[in-house]
Amino acid sequence: MSKPSEPGNIVLVGFMAAGKSTVGRELERLCGYRFVDLDNVVVQMAGCSIPEIFAEEGEGRFRELETQALKSLAGSRGRVIATGGGVIGRVENWAQMRSLGPVVYLRTTWATLRKRLANSQGRPLADPKELTRVEALWRSRLQLYEQADISVDTDELDAAKVADAILRQLHIAQGNTQCSND
Ligand code: S3P
Repeated sequence: MSKPSEPGNIVLVGFMAAGKSTVGRELERLCGYRFVDLDNVVVQMAGCSIPEIFAEEGEGRFRELETQALKSLAGSRGRVIATGGGVIGRVENWAQMRSLGPVVYLRTTWATLRKRLANSQGRPLADPKELTRVEALWRSRLQLYEQADISVDTDELDAAKVADAILRQLHIAQGNTQCSND
């Protein structure tokens, strides 16, 4: 993990609907790190949406693009990076994420995720009509998420409180905008 005083970047991991983007934006507001959504990087690289990539080229191709997108961030500083929920599945992604900065797991119970995912759209692996399957996917990933450097239990907290807890654990000052213009 990077030195607390020089975090470089903050990398958020967690299951779909764990709040990575919302918390990422909150971190941007609080500490000035610029928000990057890894799914958006993939979409820009591919020139089409995530559901289109899955439908036309399959999950394997999406995973390749996701790894490529992560690699494209090498050398970045002062970013808060929200990853897609499945990024934790490849060992090489972990090496890449750790080289960017501390990896932070947004830990969320299935009860909370279930409610959010019941209305989810645009997530090929989270069909609201197949929540039993989605729960099995969540369960199969839990140990992988736990490999993060730090974790925050998010169920009882709003996004601002989660962001605050992250910054405290990483010893990053709020209002610190020194990296935002890199
Ligand atoms: C996925 C999560 C999605 C997106 C893709 C696959 C997953 O991102 O990367 O649909 O495998 O969990 P979010 O976690 O932002 O929904």
